[in-house]
Amino acid sequence: MQAQFSNATAFDRYPGLMLALKRMKGSAKAGSRPLRILSYGCSIGEELITLRLYFPDAEIFGCDVNEGALKIASGIAEKVDATVFKSTDASLREHGPFDIVTAMSVLCLHPAKDIIKRFPFSAYEHNIGVIDEALSDGGLFALFNSSYLFRGTTVAEHYQPMAADTVGSNGFATRHARNGDVLATRIASDFGLSYKVDDIERIRFEDFMDCIYKKRSGEKWPDRKYIKVDQGFDCSETNIAYSWSKSEHLDDIDQKSPEGIMDMRVSFRLIKADKHQSQLFSERATSRRDLWHGGYRGKSKFICPAWMDYS
Ligand SMILES: C[S@@+](CC[C@H](N)C(=O)[O-])C[C@H]1O[C@@H](n2cnc3c(N)ncnc32)[C@H](O)[C@@H]1O
Repeated sequence: MQAQFSNATAFDRYPGLMLALKRMKGSAKAGSRPLRILSYGCSIGEELITLRLYFPDAEIFGCDVNEGALKIASGIAEKVDATVFKSTDASLREHGPFDIVTAMSVLCLHPAKDIIKRFPFSAYEHNIGVIDEALSDGGLFALFNSSYLFRGTTVAEHYQPMAADTVGSNGFATRHARNGDVLATRIASDFGLSYKVDDIERIRFEDFMDCIYKKRSGEKWPDRKYIKVDQGFDCSETNIAYSWSKSEHLDDIDQKSPEGIMDMRVSFRLIKADKHQSQLFSERATSRRDLWHGGYRGKSKFICPAWMDYS
């Protein structure tokens, strides 16, 4: 089923993510044959040029449901030695298996009007299932801008989220629950990319951050735990923890929020906490991925990743 209807694209649109995939590519490759990469939703083909730039030796494929876009993409494909095909369940199976599949700004509806009619969770999960079938075991799935939570799909438990310091966010699309409820929406703020979190109980930090998943059939990944560490580090297990470090006034988070309520900003630092917690904290403090801001304005909670820095 068609997900995103817009064909908007650009050359080298996700440099941090491409860099991360390039660094991880060794782990996705099976044997000595060239790496096989699919741009799922390649639009007019700019992403094929990007992939060729980052993966000069790979076999590159692009697919899309939009025939007009595909026609333009096929001209580009000739120039960058890629193969394009119309995206259907059968064609994905035929052209696979792939070692890397990118689904960038594809499995979403943006803007998210009438999402339940136009792109329900069942369609999202179906498309992810087809991609899963076409991805080799040990392969990497890069998912950017996703209307639903990947961890809500049945295949997700066999995917290990991969941390990458060059990836600060997994997109800006509105996040929905299976029934279409809005969980978080992008808002304007002085941080650049922030989300108003409508349901803090049903969404977690990693839902804004995890972007690359490694397929590991037969293995199930435990849920990550979050610990609030506001008075020193007192946890002894290995866990993801967060602490806050500062608070100050914020402007322009949500124009509609009630007046007269204090705005607060907190900086979260996601860390691995074990018996060497303080050491890990300072080591990982340099990682862009681990710096987050969160707080509330009136009744609206928000969180946002640190501004992406690809240097
Ligand atoms: C916003 S563009 C993204 C293009 C490119 N991936 C990028 O990020 O620059 C979304 C593309 O996904 C395509 N698309 C939507 N549903 C699809 C599906 N089920 N299979 C393959 N492509 C799909 C659309 O036709 C459109 O060309």
